[in-house]
Amino acid sequence: MKDKSVFVCQSCGAKSPKWLGRCPACSEWNTFVEESETEEAPLVEQAFAPAEPIVYKDVKNLRKPRTRIKIDEVNKVLGGGVVLGSLVLIGGEPGIGKSTLLLQISRDFASEDASVLYVSGEESLDQIKLRGERLGVGGGPLYLLAETGLERILAQAEKLKPQILVIDSVQTVFSSKLTSSPGTISQVREVANQVFRFAKRNAVSSFLIGHITKEGSLAGPKSLEHMVDVVLLFEGERDHSYRVLRALKNRFGPVSELAIFEMTTAGLEAIPDPSAFFLKERPKNEAGSVVVATIKGTRPLLIEVQALVSPTLFSSNPRRMTVGLDRDRASMLLAVIERKLGYTFGGEDIYLNVAGGLEIGEPAADLGIVLGVVSCLMNRPVPPGLAAFGEVGLSGEIRSVGQSLARVKEAASLGFLTVILPEGNAAGLAKENLEGIRLIGARSIRQAIDLVF
Ligand code: TYD
Ligand code: MG
Repeated sequence: MKDKSVFVCQSCGAKSPKWLGRCPACSEWNTFVEESETEEAPLVEQAFAPAEPIVYKDVKNLRKPRTRIKIDEVNKVLGGGVVLGSLVLIGGEPGIGKSTLLLQISRDFASEDASVLYVSGEESLDQIKLRGERLGVGGGPLYLLAETGLERILAQAEKLKPQILVIDSVQTVFSSKLTSSPGTISQVREVANQVFRFAKRNAVSSFLIGHITKEGSLAGPKSLEHMVDVVLLFEGERDHSYRVLRALKNRFGPVSELAIFEMTTAGLEAIPDPSAFFLKERPKNEAGSVVVATIKGTRPLLIEVQALVSPTLFSSNPRRMTVGLDRDRASMLLAVIERKLGYTFGGEDIYLNVAGGLEIGEPAADLGIVLGVVSCLMNRPVPPGLAAFGEVGLSGEIRSVGQSLARVKEAASLGFLTVILPEGNAAGLAKENLEGIRLIGARSIRQAIDLVF
């Protein structure tokens, strides 16, 4: 095999015969790395037996067998358990808890006598063991291997025939078929490709850990998404203890579920009641704080939105800061408040924050943001026991949003007595038997303000 050198963009995989400062394909800067050109193996080459076409109606509706994980939240995200022989990629920033989660999953499988091979290219066996002690890893067929050579790893796996294979991480493992260094885009692809074929051939459910950086991913798991069966993302703020696990892609199930965990001294613990968790430190009777009923994945979640308005000092440029909310959307809402409610805040800094470090991406938070800002401007807290949701349009109208029943029920179950919501949603819920909670439908933000304050 003749080795020819080629420059490969580590962000999108584009190739060039010479080094370029900026990738012409994806416009990223400084992403070209010299790699040696080798013939890449076709993606799913021979992973399955040679196939013959089959008439649609003769295709048997084979349900792939699934193994359920002890941490039920993970099952949910996977769509009901790990599918036999599937390859799952778990991406996340360094230090977020990927190794911890996978070691916990390995522990649980091993404790039920399913054999697990946990391969680490990052840590030594005693480091893993140290973590294992904290996580209470006990007996059972949990095998550890500290190794970075992919072919050697697969040879060991071939010998051991585990039911579960974990590789931590795809960036540290390399194939000797390629001369490029570990972590480059051709290496991570080759690793994923070989593990994929191994998983299918031997019906071993396999997990690959991949590091992602905040700016996106250099040589990242992004380029692997099309090659694996399931892509899970593990996210959170490092300074907060909660972590969110969600599916970005799932060949065997929906991608809408998400699970929330808390990082404790004994590893990750599923949070069964996230709304209560995120509201537990909410200040009582503070102006600017409003509880919003949002939907995360498929589950309703109550989150506190906070607004702070304070005079701009030393500058003619008032600040508009948002944390956890879309900036453009927030600016739009502020403009609507000025225009439709008659406030002016040209000389005020405005800060908007989602408590707990979460992010809200849906417009259903609009009404809560408006109430928060107005509450702060009037220096009057919203009544305790009030939750809000609804989309706000440019004329100040409040528009209906989806899943209103789930939102109201979540608020009711946490002891909220009143929900202010779009009139359209309130009308739709009129026939529901909702005891113990009062629904206030509002058509415009003007009307909502009058009703609340
Ligand atoms: P780790 O799983 O090593 O992250 P990753 O594999 O994604 O890089 O865990 C990262 C952090 O979690 C580390 O800073 C220590 C913390 N941690 C706990 O708080 N409690 C625990 O029980 C464990 C094992 C880790
Ligand atoms: Mg790790």
